[in-house]
Amino acid sequence: MKVAIIPGDGIGKEVLPAALSVLDVFGVDIEKVPLEIGFGKWEKTGSAITDDDIALIKQCDCVLFGAITTVPDPDYKSVLVRIRKELDLYANIRPFTPLKKVKLPCAKKFDFVIVRENTEGMYSGVEELHEDVAYSTRIITRKGSTRIAEKACKIAKMRKKQLTIVHKANVLKSDSFFRDVCTGVAKKNDIRYNEMFVDAMAYDMILHPEKYDVIVTTNLFGDILSDEAAAMVGGLGLCPSANIGDKYAFFEPIHGSAPDIAGKGIANPIAAILSVKMMLEWAGFNAEAKTIGQAVNNVLDNGIVTPDLGGSYSTLDVSNAITKLIR
Ligand code: NAI
Ligand code: MG
Repeated sequence: MKVAIIPGDGIGKEVLPAALSVLDVFGVDIEKVPLEIGFGKWEKTGSAITDDDIALIKQCDCVLFGAITTVPDPDYKSVLVRIRKELDLYANIRPFTPLKKVKLPCAKKFDFVIVRENTEGMYSGVEELHEDVAYSTRIITRKGSTRIAEKACKIAKMRKKQLTIVHKANVLKSDSFFRDVCTGVAKKNDIRYNEMFVDAMAYDMILHPEKYDVIVTTNLFGDILSDEAAAMVGGLGLCPSANIGDKYAFFEPIHGSAPDIAGKGIANPIAAILSVKMMLEWAGFNAEAKTIGQAVNNVLDNGIVTPDLGGSYSTLDVSNAITKLIR
């Protein structure tokens, strides 16, 4: 397997090496292709990502990514949006399972996955900005909705076979379209499903998270609900994600480059380490992935945690404890 390694900026440069040290323990046959992409590169060369970078990424099977800094400069184009489009990474998959010993805002037990459409909807990029009015066109296609619903059903089949379709079909025509496509795909796949309006979902997810298994939704709604869910499991430092297409995949912690703590060596590496776990699952290394999950839980159990979780350990202390346990 050939993996493009993109640490990016800020704490990306700290958590990705920590995660790679965990991956290296297994001795899995992986060819690493290091790439410099992001704000640091933009400052040095005037472009955050080049056509050559994209070509190199396309020669790999998947990408392991840290985080990058984005600036509001009109010349600075979003690297992540470009990579998602170029590789057609249409499914953003974020599992939310509370880890051991992490203090949670919600007392209920839960374990759900948010499957977010990643290429269209509110982020289709069809926009107009005028003097007194601005438009963002929300595009929902049959192709886009069908493939995200199929992906969600596939994940549901490996879990409790329960799908929740989240939309705002009472107001938005584009969402009644999305709902109809999703219900059709769920029926075809013989998956139990229910529907929730997105506002009610934001509320119910906190009160009754135990009710949910696989949640499928459109781009903007998934973006918002997944940050809410990140708070529910104890913070950004713990949440991994996968961006999956038919050909490529891209694994990253959901947090950003955290300039407020970058360079201090105290970033929580667990989100990045669990992103490695998701990559190994995707590639079929299930035993190794399971071992990482157990080691992370044990290290949390032993209280070896970074300041975001109330501890005083460093990024390297945590990743070293995890690699030691795996060994
Ligand atoms: P952020 O996720 O970088 O940080 C939010 C807060 O969470 C900060 O207080 C930070 O210290 C803390 N935090 C995040 N990850 C942590 C970790 N692993 N361990 C301990 N604490 C952690 O979001 P923010 O501050 O909104 O954005 C900073 C920069 O990152 C911006 O330039 C933004 O555009 C970019 N960004 C990039 C993303 C990506 O590359 N996927 C995603 C989100 C933001
Ligand atoms: Mg977001």
